[in-house]
Amino acid sequence: MKGVILAGGTGTRLYPLTRLINKHLLPVGNSPMITYGIEQLKLAGISDILLVISKQSAGLYTDFLGSGSTMGINLTYKIQEEAGGIGEALELARGFIAPGERFVVLLGDNLFLDPLKPYAEKFQRQPAGTARILLKKVSDPGRYGVPVFDQDHPKLISFIEEKPQQPKSDYCVTGIYMYDDRVFEHIAATNPSDRGELEITDVNNLYAMEGKLEYDILRNWWTDAGTFDSLLEASRRMKRFKR
Ligand code: G1P
Repeated sequence: MKGVILAGGTGTRLYPLTRLINKHLLPVGNSPMITYGIEQLKLAGISDILLVISKQSAGLYTDFLGSGSTMGINLTYKIQEEAGGIGEALELARGFIAPGERFVVLLGDNLFLDPLKPYAEKFQRQPAGTARILLKKVSDPGRYGVPVFDQDHPKLISFIEEKPQQPKSDYCVTGIYMYDDRVFEHIAATNPSDRGELEITDVNNLYAMEGKLEYDILRNWWTDAGTFDSLLEASRRMKRFKR
């Protein structure tokens, strides 16, 4: 299995910090944010990792991480020229993923304490061409993608609503996704949304419509560290992250 971490984007909610440095290199606890996703993949036994980064700070990524050898991993880099959404960033992994190969995708600002390994193992047992995503129970689901569960098939999600005004569940879709190379067909079948981006929710809904979107629910703390408050909380929590 391979890993892909999406670490492009402009991080406008963290201006002016992110005018100086890319969001995923900001300090969280004692390390740049990007370190945690890499560690999580490594702990799950995944050592071939693609980092999709923006032009901004590209040199800092290579200064800090190099080939990945000091962390015991093998890093590949791709540049996302302009922020065009998670779907567009993920498209850049085509070519890194061999036909039929499975991989874990992390949004680089998603920080969490659950180990990935048990979830990745469940995904490995799923049929080819299906997907698995991780959810988290939250108090403010309307800020995120929100799953609607399939009443007839408890293992499946029937639809995801992106930032709904009236969320139909207390869960959010986290930025932790598992696919095989079929995802590239689905990305190619989506169109830019009203905000001009290829939405990962549209991609996941193509799986959901076919009855091929399974899920797990994270048990421990999770955040997407895209705001000052969540970044501060992440620093406090990640001090206790065992590495
Ligand atoms: C993205 C996804 C959303 C998901 C969130 C998790 O939102 O579109 O479905 O819940 O990541 O971090 P964005 O951060 O692009 O608004």
